[in-house]
Amino acid sequence: MIRSGTRPEESITLKRIRSIVRGIGSYLPKRKLTNQELEKIVDTTHEWIVQRTGIEQRYIADDSETTSVLGIRAAEAALADAGLTAQDIDLIVCATSTPDHTFPSTATMIQNGLGITHGAAFDLQAVCTGFVYAVATADKFLQSGSHKRALVIGAETFSRILDWNDRTTCVLFGDGAGALVLEAQEGEGNSADRGILTSQLRSDGRYREKLYVDGGPGSTKTTGILKMEGREVFKFAVGMVTDVVQDAFKASGTTPEELKWFVPHQANKRIITASADKLGIAPEKVVITVDRHGNTSAASIPLALDVARKDGRIKDGDLVMIEAIGGGFTWGSALIRW
Ligand code: ACO
Repeated sequence: MIRSGTRPEESITLKRIRSIVRGIGSYLPKRKLTNQELEKIVDTTHEWIVQRTGIEQRYIADDSETTSVLGIRAAEAALADAGLTAQDIDLIVCATSTPDHTFPSTATMIQNGLGITHGAAFDLQAVCTGFVYAVATADKFLQSGSHKRALVIGAETFSRILDWNDRTTCVLFGDGAGALVLEAQEGEGNSADRGILTSQLRSDGRYREKLYVDGGPGSTKTTGILKMEGREVFKFAVGMVTDVVQDAFKASGTTPEELKWFVPHQANKRIITASADKLGIAPEKVVITVDRHGNTSAASIPLALDVARKDGRIKDGDLVMIEAIGGGFTWGSALIRW
């Protein structure tokens, strides 16, 4: 046991392994779809979509841009940002609800695409909360000492599971991928450490009917189509995400004032601003990319993190909160010192 500080009763801290962010990258499909184009597909307007959701455009994958292809591109960008190669990675966790195939996992396809055959790779499914679950899971692998460097990927092609005649859902979603490279490093065991400081995961399966896909290999033997009671999801979203963000502040001994950046799942601008407001997080700390990406489910947080890192907002040492709610319901948060 390693102790630090001169007055043990006040300042005992145990050194511990932290999962620090080494690199980040993302990838968007080539095809941009604007609200004006959607007006020609379903009975909607640019004004309605912007006013209710904040979305102005989204990207749609073509047939060659499968989820694994998007994931590989994002992973390559994250590795380049980290100054590492795929050989340095020994764990790949891919959060997706739109895998290329029922099996093998998209993660093993990404592993193959990166040209490596060592380590472990698996998919994780928690719908829009998938990236938060994946970060929490990879963090626990790294903390245990079993693995050293992880690629944590959120990759989705939600356009494939939409009913393009249903204006209540098809205007909301888009495709894309983002990836983080996490590396195990020893920290002091306090909130000044770099890395994942805490993660909080929740689920409640009673809410299945509010947001689900109406097919699957074990039931209909089909892929199915996304169904959502949007107003109902909205009703629960703000309360659930604010609870789990407050739990993260409490668990890490940090406060909303110390937070530098709030990077929520990008589903709806109104949910994001209402949550930030309820948490007492100043609007200028909130990263919003739903306007340009739409809701990309498990990919939305790493896409938003990449935008805010590349445009110079997120700097080394900044305290960054990520949070999401998705089908299940699942919801969760993670606090990262970059
Ligand atoms: N264009 C024009 N009108 C529309 C559209 C559209 N695209 N979609 C619905 N409408 C109409 C409805 O038919 C309804 O008309 P009516 O009053 O004549 O019946 C009216 O607009 C209002 O519909 P509501 O559903 O009440 O609209 P609301 O203000 O709730 O906005 C929305 C809908 C945007 C879906 C909102 O409820 C929402 O964002 N909910 C949360 C969804 C969410 O966050 N999901 C993702 C979380 S999990 C995950 O990401 C998988």
